[in-house]
Amino acid sequence: MRPKVLVTGGTGYIGSHTILDLLENGCDAVCIDSCINSDTSCLKAIKELTGTEIPFYKADLCDLKATEQVFRDHPDIAGIIHFAALKAVGESVEKPLLYFRNNLESLINILDLSLRYGVKAFIFSSSCTVYGDVTHSPVDENTPWQEAASPYGRTKQIGEQIITDTLRHTDMKSILLRYFNPAGAHPSGKMGESPINPPQNLVPVITETAIGKRKSMTVFGTDYPTRDGSCIRDYIHVCDLAHAHTLALKYIFEGRQDEQTGIFNLGIGNGLTVLEIIEAFQRVTGVSLSYILGDRRPGDVMAIYSDHTKAGRLLGWEPKMTIDDIVSTAWTWEKNRSAAGKS
Ligand code: UD1
Repeated sequence: MRPKVLVTGGTGYIGSHTILDLLENGCDAVCIDSCINSDTSCLKAIKELTGTEIPFYKADLCDLKATEQVFRDHPDIAGIIHFAALKAVGESVEKPLLYFRNNLESLINILDLSLRYGVKAFIFSSSCTVYGDVTHSPVDENTPWQEAASPYGRTKQIGEQIITDTLRHTDMKSILLRYFNPAGAHPSGKMGESPINPPQNLVPVITETAIGKRKSMTVFGTDYPTRDGSCIRDYIHVCDLAHAHTLALKYIFEGRQDEQTGIFNLGIGNGLTVLEIIEAFQRVTGVSLSYILGDRRPGDVMAIYSDHTKAGRLLGWEPKMTIDDIVSTAWTWEKNRSAAGKS
């Protein structure tokens, strides 16, 4: 029997790719999303790619009653993948209470309902941001946390603690997945990052500049003590990332996880600089990019990349896509989006 999985934030960037991966790997999916920073076009793409039309609820998880309706309609939900959250680092600095209220209340509600309705597995969308400003890389799951660099980062730290404490004496198991820098799009060109608010992350900024939506872009800082002076990050293809969620669920469903709450880093295990990403984009696409070398962005960490050996050893997860795949799929998606008239 195909286990039924509720994906919160399922019309968002990572959520939509994860729904696709679940359907392709023997699971059924139900989606809930408030659509405050996404639209439902990905559900159409998922139908085109898999032939499956999944149940969709447009609701905010902070609305407990509306969220409970999903569980009433689907009492057989076996697992939750919880993506729904606000994620703009800069906005979180300006409006911390918005982030604490939204990201934590929604988490508390979904945990409460999961326990009441007998869900067995809970996967949480966490982030390498929990490690804060690390002094060396690679970081593994035991690397001590530093002070969170933003209220957004703090919501991920607190979120992990809420889950760990809440599940301690229950029979629900959880996995906290700490993403490094998700990027790229589905190779079909039918699905990718499609936020309503202008993206701030490096790869969509590059593709939007290349297509002419932005006149130019800025490299934030070229005086860091790195090989070319720009920041180092660990860019992981969104499809590789999505597949890790399916493997994590199966790890719990198949009774292979002993601990109540497992933690896994998800990155490629290698760091690339901002200038190397720009070089890869220009080399792979043949498009030359208009960019300037600018000042450091406040709050940026100089370098961070992952040790993901635990995910390889226990989940059997190995990233397959390279940086060339990331920039080429992101570029195809940008061209398709623009041709369809999306901003
Ligand atoms: C941050 C968070 C991450 C979070 C993500 C959500 C940290 C350490 N990381 O990632 O947890 O999930 O935001 O949005 O808090 N850059 C430029 N020019 C640009 C845009 C970016 O040079 O126009 C550079 C940045 O300075 C950085 C790199 O590109 O060095 C990646 O930036 P970005 O894509 O915004 O991700 P992070 O800040 O690493």
